[in-house]
Amino acid sequence: MQNPTPPTGGGTAPPRDCHLTQDDFTWLSDFVRKRSAIVLDAGKEYLAETRLSQVVQKEGIESISSLVRSLRKGDSRKLEGAVIEAMTTNETSFFRDLKPFELLRTEVLPALIEARRSTKRLSMWCAAASTGQEPYSVMMLIDQHFPELRDWKVDYLATDLSSDVLAKAESGIYSQFEVNRGLPAPLLVKYFAGQGGRWQVKPELRSRIRFRAMNLIEPWPPMEPLDIVFIRNVLIYFDQPTKSAILGRIRKLLRPDGVLFLGGAESTMGLDDQYIAVRSQGSTYYRIDAGSKK
Ligand SMILES: C[S@@+](CC[C@H](N)C(=O)[O-])C[C@H]1O[C@@H](n2cnc3c(N)ncnc32)[C@H](O)[C@@H]1O
Repeated sequence: MQNPTPPTGGGTAPPRDCHLTQDDFTWLSDFVRKRSAIVLDAGKEYLAETRLSQVVQKEGIESISSLVRSLRKGDSRKLEGAVIEAMTTNETSFFRDLKPFELLRTEVLPALIEARRSTKRLSMWCAAASTGQEPYSVMMLIDQHFPELRDWKVDYLATDLSSDVLAKAESGIYSQFEVNRGLPAPLLVKYFAGQGGRWQVKPELRSRIRFRAMNLIEPWPPMEPLDIVFIRNVLIYFDQPTKSAILGRIRKLLRPDGVLFLGGAESTMGLDDQYIAVRSQGSTYYRIDAGSKK
C-alpha cells in the first residue's frame, strides 16, 4: 500500500521507511489476530503503519518491510511480542465512564458484602487493566467507602497482555495529565505521593493488587471463583467467536451471584445468552441468569 502522508503528527518526518504493502498488511492482520485476537480490518493500514513505525524506531530496524520480513521468518520472539504490544490500544483513565463505579459503590458491593459476611472473602479480576487506572480506581473506592473490607481477604488480580503497560501499572506512577483525567483531587491527596511533577500510588494501595501478564486468548491460569469481573473496552477489538468464548470462560469462573462489568460499547447480547443485563442508574452490569445451565 502506498501512503504518501507521514504517519507521525506535528510535522515530524518519519525516520525510516514506514510503508506497508498490501500483502504485508494481510499477513500482519492474520499474525495479530492469531496472537492477540485483535482484529485489524481493511482500512486499518494507516494505524498499523503508525504503530509499526514506533517498533522500527525503537528497535533500530531499517524499515517496516524489514520488520515484517523478520516477523515472517519467525526468528525473534522478542520482536513478535513488541509488535503485538504495539498493536494494542491502551487508552484508559481513572474512574472511566464513572457510572459503573457508582453502581459498584451503591449496589454491587453492598450486596456482595452482605452475602459474604460469613467468609469475609471477595475475589475480583480486572482483565485488560492497561496502565492500572481502572484497578486503582476500584481499590480507592473500596478503601474509601468500605473500610470494613480492610479486615477481609480481598483478592484483586489485574491482568493485561502488554508487559509494558503492566510495568507502568505496577509502578503506579502517573503524570499530572493522567491524574487530571478522572481522579478527584481529594483522592489524589489521600492515595498518591507527589514526586518531581509525577504522582505515585502509595504502597499500601499498590500492594493490594496483583498485576500479572495474561493473554485472554491463551489458556488462563487457575483462578478462584470470582465475585466481580471488570473486562472493559477490550472485547470491542475482538471478533464475535472470540468475544463469545471469553464471556463463556468468565461465566464458568463467576460465582452464581457474581457480577460482570463491560465497557459502555460492549454487551453480552448475541454472544452469550446465559447472562442477564441489569440496568440501573443509567449503566449496566451483568449477572448469570439463574435459570441457565452454566
Ligand atoms: C482500551 S484498553 C482498556 C483499559 C481499561 N479496561 C479501560 O476500560 O479503561 C484495552 C487493553 O486490552 C489489552 N488487550 C488487548 N488484547 C488483549 C488480549 N488478547 N489479552 C489481554 N489483554 C489484551 C490491551 O493491552 C489494552 O491495555
